[in-house]
Amino acid sequence: MGKGYFITGTDTGVGKTIVAGGLAALYKDRGLDVGVMKPVATGCKRVNNALVSDDAVFLKLSAEVDDDYELINPYSFEQPLAPTVAARLSNTKIDLEKIRMDYDSLCEKHDYLIIEGIGGLLVPLDEYYFVVDMASEMELPLIVVCRPTIGTINHTLLTVSYARQHGLDVKGIIINESTEDSDDTVKKTNADEIKRLSGLPVFGTIPFDKRLDISKYNKDVLLKIFRDKIDKDIII
Ligand SMILES: Nc1ncnc2c1ncn2[C@@H]1O[C@H](COP(=O)(O)OP(=O)(O)O)[C@@H](O)[C@H]1O
Ligand SMILES: [Mg+2]
Repeated sequence: MGKGYFITGTDTGVGKTIVAGGLAALYKDRGLDVGVMKPVATGCKRVNNALVSDDAVFLKLSAEVDDDYELINPYSFEQPLAPTVAARLSNTKIDLEKIRMDYDSLCEKHDYLIIEGIGGLLVPLDEYYFVVDMASEMELPLIVVCRPTIGTINHTLLTVSYARQHGLDVKGIIINESTEDSDDTVKKTNADEIKRLSGLPVFGTIPFDKRLDISKYNKDVLLKIFRDKIDKDIII
């Protein structure tokens, strides 16, 4: 088992990038050497004729690494679509062997790695190859990021159960308030039910904070929130 985490979520937009970046910043703050990777990104923007993923840029800034951008984010697509579809529309295919080689290079360079998945576990990367298969090959413990709002018990337990069926080592859950509307009772009761039914720790709840914006990296804000809200035992 490698050191670090593979960060998945119950859906897209739940806060995987904020959590992956926050954890990388915590590792870095502890004086640990941490690398980051966003193997495939979609919905990227074009900058000087190259496609750039906001997620990959945020992760690179959080871990403060000088690794080549292409190593951190080997595949970027412009359309905000599932990876297989975005690749097909760009007349290309995701070469899994390239991702494996880039991942191995990062493993050699760093003591810890934080990998951000793509959407949830059943997002396809190849005809019959999904994010769950990539997480399994990378042999990193898994963290599941979920919403605090209604529906989250079902989504979170489905994700945990599917990960376990695939032999992944699920370490725990982080609840993220990616929107402003969550109610305290809902948050508290959902967290307790998720803990009880999954048997997993909830490492913390990240509050909604406008300054947590992946397009405007703010190290002080990110680090303070993660130091205050995330259980220190997460760093292993
Ligand atoms: N706790 C939070 N407070 C405020 N905004 C947040 C929070 N978490 C996420 N966001 C915003 O919500 C959006 C989705 O979060 P992100 O981490 O990109 O999700 P994912 O990586 O799962 O798609 C981003 O624009 C991000 O800046
Ligand atoms: Mg993301």
